[in-house]
Amino acid sequence: MSPWAGLLCTAAKVNLLVLLVAVVFSWSSLSDRVPEFALTKIEESDIKDDSGNEPVTEDDADPEDLEVFYPTHQWQTLRPGQAVPAGSHVRLNLQTGEREAKLPDSEDGHTGQGSRRKRLGKVDVDANSFTSQELKEALAKMKASEKAERKAQEEEVRKKFRPIEQLKEEFEKLNMKMETDYEIMVKLISKFNSSASTLDEKVAALYDLEYYVHQVDNAKDFLSMGGLRLMIEGLNSTEAALKEHAAFVLGAALSSNPKVQIEAIEGGALQKLLVILATEQPLAVRKKALFALSSMLRHFPYAQQQFLKLGGLQVLRSLFRQRGMETLHVRVVTLLYDLIMEKMLLEGSQHGEQMAEKLQQYRQVRLVPAVLEQDWCAVPPTLLAMPEHDTREKVLKLVGVLMAFCREHYRGDPALGTALGLLRSEYEELAAQEQREGDKDGYFGELLGSINTIIQELG
Ligand SMILES: *[C@@H]1O[C@H](CO)[C@@H](O)[C@H](O)[C@H]1NC(C)=O
Ligand SMILES: *[C@@H]1O[C@H](CO)[C@@H](O)[C@H](O)[C@H]1NC(C)=O
Repeated sequence: MSPWAGLLCTAAKVNLLVLLVAVVFSWSSLSDRVPEFALTKIEESDIKDDSGNEPVTEDDADPEDLEVFYPTHQWQTLRPGQAVPAGSHVRLNLQTGEREAKLPDSEDGHTGQGSRRKRLGKVDVDANSFTSQELKEALAKMKASEKAERKAQEEEVRKKFRPIEQLKEEFEKLNMKMETDYEIMVKLISKFNSSASTLDEKVAALYDLEYYVHQVDNAKDFLSMGGLRLMIEGLNSTEAALKEHAAFVLGAALSSNPKVQIEAIEGGALQKLLVILATEQPLAVRKKALFALSSMLRHFPYAQQQFLKLGGLQVLRSLFRQRGMETLHVRVVTLLYDLIMEKMLLEGSQHGEQMAEKLQQYRQVRLVPAVLEQDWCAVPPTLLAMPEHDTREKVLKLVGVLMAFCREHYRGDPALGTALGLLRSEYEELAAQEQREGDKDGYFGELLGSINTIIQELG
């Protein structure tokens, strides 16, 4: 890599840092209903795969990776990628280099809930009135706009350099002139497709492509360039790193993009992803394959039907019988919950002509019978022992939605009763603390509510 290219990258990185701070301060102006966040990204050394991969970086985070931090009145260290609810105090611990956050002290002479809300109201919004789901959605949105702004910033940097004739010449010599997304994607694809490229160069090209194909229009261009086909072939690669990154690009391109979803399923992506998930593969590869599979299935009933026909649900079920797949379990649980809810919500909603066809398609997705047949009832209770609140929240949701079908199984499972009892006392305490701190409908209270509902329904 040339020194100039390095310089440009560094400039872009510095800008990103500045931007992160700027986003935190500008967020509140968007809407009073939208909470603000500090998005922290430190080395993610705790998420190492068994393949001994490098730490996960920002662009590597699937939407499922986004986590919400629950502040207390003590300073707590933020984990990488955690979103901080509005109103939290965040500081950088200069000794450890870690970021820490806590709830604001109720100082400056105000007392009582009302005044606190008012004080926070304008700038901070009371984050405790948002569910973690809402926080995550907002965080995902922020991530998207941050990427867009980052691009604008990069353009800005390039513009600033332009008047400097010498640099400009250098850049032109190095072919570093301003390029459109389209041109960049063409180059990245040919870099990936060239037999002259090394493995590292190919992986780097995929890594960059992932950034571009998030945008719906770019993903469509990607399709017309033949990029999607290459990614599907890439799933067959004998190199784990290529398989992993091809699945990553695929997942990004598929997200909320019906056109890509249709092309991908016609191109055989579903089978290939299931083969990856069903066979011995490094965890990192399977993780990205699951990400791509989820993007493929969400809001696409035709793919859901095919998935069931191909035995996809069994493939996911078998992940619970293998060692070392624990990090995938909560993602599978989330996917299953989302698919069940997606269908239920549509069936329960008002719909016109247009939705009739979609509804018809969903009717053919016989998900619940397959779930029962494969004994999915047994899956969620065993996961309740996980320590993370966020994981438990997802598992409880699935238990709740499966209740109608799995009640008898649950009643006959004494371990479930014990686990729920333990969780109830834990969250009673946390919810009480939350209340003392002035949050009537806090997160822990919400979790306690769903535990109590489940216990009640079992009783
Ligand atoms: C990839 O390379 C092959 C062989 O060189 C070529 O036939 C194909 O068109 C290329 N695909 C794309 C999408 O560039
Ligand atoms: C990809 O793998 C499948 C089997 O998993 C095989 O049938 C297919 O021919 C392979 N395709 C390529 C392009 O290697």
